[in-house]
Amino acid sequence: MKKFTLLASLIVGVMFVVACGGGDDGGSDSPAATSAPAPTATTAPAPTVDAGPDPAELIATGKTKYGSCSACHGLDGRGVPGLGKDLVESAFMDGLSDAELVDFIKVGRGPSDEGNTTGIAMPPKGGNPSLSDDDLLAIVAYIDSL
Ligand code: HEC
Repeated sequence: MKKFTLLASLIVGVMFVVACGGGDDGGSDSPAATSAPAPTATTAPAPTVDAGPDPAELIATGKTKYGSCSACHGLDGRGVPGLGKDLVESAFMDGLSDAELVDFIKVGRGPSDEGNTTGIAMPPKGGNPSLSDDDLLAIVAYIDSL
């Protein structure tokens, strides 16, 4: 019987301590609960990663496709005297949107074109008809990165 009494008082004692401790924890739980929405908000930036996945990839693709232009415009885009103009310091390129530049490159600029400044032909697509609009857009992005 004494053992039971001892056990019973132990249980009561433990419950008392747990109850007091629980009360304290309960007080500190409330602020933790109100901070819960913060992690939900930090998941928001994830979609913005989807919004801008391409630039580096586009430039890398453009770099490989730029081989169709480098013979006349130079590997560094600075132009080859007597063959093609500087594309890096081009006021003409600065004045056009990427889409307008794609349209320009598709047509080129013949020697008799009144906009021609060198008397040398800029062939349509640089003379490589296999370049798609996407290829040309990538090339423009690459030139812009130079
Ligand atoms: C066979 C040589 C040749 C190749 C290849 C060539 N171009 Fe040209 N490009 C020229 C010449 C020459 C001009 C300048 C024409 C003129 O006198 O206005 C020019 C002009 C340009 C211009 C206008 C620059 C300015 O400031 O007026 C752009 C943009 C351009 N080329 C882009 C390209 C791209 C992109 C490629 C590759 C897809 C390419 N070119 C391939 C010869 C070439």
